[in-house]
Amino acid sequence: MNVIEAIKKRRAYRSLDPIEVNDELIRDFAEIVKISPSCANKQPWNIIFITEKEQLNRLFTVLSTGNKWVKKASMIIAVFSKPENDCIIGERYYYLFDTGMATAMLILRATELGLVAHPIAGFKEGKAKEILEIPDEMRLITLVIIGKHSKEINPVLSDAMKLGEKQRPPRKKLEDFIYVNNFNTKFNE
Ligand SMILES: Cc1cc2nc3c(=O)[nH]c(=O)nc-3n(C[C@H](O)[C@H](O)[C@H](O)COP(=O)(O)O)c2cc1C
Repeated sequence: MNVIEAIKKRRAYRSLDPIEVNDELIRDFAEIVKISPSCANKQPWNIIFITEKEQLNRLFTVLSTGNKWVKKASMIIAVFSKPENDCIIGERYYYLFDTGMATAMLILRATELGLVAHPIAGFKEGKAKEILEIPDEMRLITLVIIGKHSKEINPVLSDAMKLGEKQRPPRKKLEDFIYVNNFNTKFNE
């Protein structure tokens, strides 16, 4: 699969079937994160691959109510960092940006492997950090939910989420966020 195919194929699906997670898959994802770009090569990311059933069950208790679909996860990837791990240039803090880029690379690789890799923000950070034994000063930025896309729509989904399984949620028009030369000149679609 080439890059454009992976970008277009990637979807945040919420109807998941189980997959077999092995060390090879974890190493594959780890190597992708390892070679991601970062400001001054600071490599600010920290990642925990959660595969143990008991630990997954503990994490399922800290999900937001809309995230019941996550309980079908075969693996959860916890992504965390702190501001001091990366460049701070005046008021520009790069740890979220660089960690986000690395996560995007991992998500695209998962897509290429035929998997769903769905990042979520809907969880209780403090409780999740306790379960994962992540120090206080770290920000748990996202949990990436790993599974395989199921043709059967998960009945726990809301109507909007069910629709989202069939078609990509609508996007803004290019003219609403793309400009040329300066912020006053909108891109004409
Ligand atoms: C940072 C981030 C947080 C998200 N949090 C959640 C979440 O808590 N629950 C959820 O169901 N989807 C979550 N999503 C998925 C988005 O809703 C989804 O990417 C968006 O609707 C666009 O759909 P698409 O990715 O399939 O194109 C999150 C995505 C991102 C990037």
